[in-house]
Amino acid sequence: MFEKWIGVILFLFMVTGLLEVKNGHASIPLPKPSSDGKVSVEKAIKQRRTIRDFQERTLSLNHLAQLLWSAQGITDSTKGRRVAPSGGALYPLDIYILIGENGVEKMETGIYHYLPKEHSMSMILKGDRRREISSASLSQMWMAKAPVTFIITAEYRRIT
Ligand SMILES: Cc1cc2nc3c(=O)[nH]c(=O)nc-3n(C[C@H](O)[C@H](O)[C@H](O)COP(=O)(O)O)c2cc1C
Repeated sequence: MFEKWIGVILFLFMVTGLLEVKNGHASIPLPKPSSDGKVSVEKAIKQRRTIRDFQERTLSLNHLAQLLWSAQGITDSTKGRRVAPSGGALYPLDIYILIGENGVEKMETGIYHYLPKEHSMSMILKGDRRREISSASLSQMWMAKAPVTFIITAEYRRIT
């Protein structure tokens, strides 16, 4: 019960932008992303669909790194520009990932914060939090079977 409420409170803080992560966890460097692929952008857009059934397969760290970079990674390190555009280049969106049991190879379960500048991630909470995030998301329990969940938050202070 207590854990459920922790999950709900954490989720609400993330959604409302009140959670500014400051912690002592060392950052975990991620494999370099690839800027080339076998599927065209047009084909990827055409084939994209929301999936709610997941195979019980572990993602590779390369795969996770590629997805994180695709969401908010750096494409111009001199100017700090990212893959996604942002008004005034203020980049208010942050990516957190929730890793479930056997979700990603060699990675502990927990919630991590993606750090675009270093292309690394830092753990902020240990343990398999999938049930909490499912409950906090209007009890959509299919989420509890996802190996990894991406949580996108907005830090309003960066833009106000
Ligand atoms: C901002 C956003 C929030 C969404 N939230 C949910 C959700 O809470 N539960 C869910 O099952 N699908 C959610 N979806 C997925 C939509 O239901 C889905 O995009 C829509 O049904 C169209 O299907 P498609 O993505 O396969 O084209 C969300 C999509 C977006 C863009």
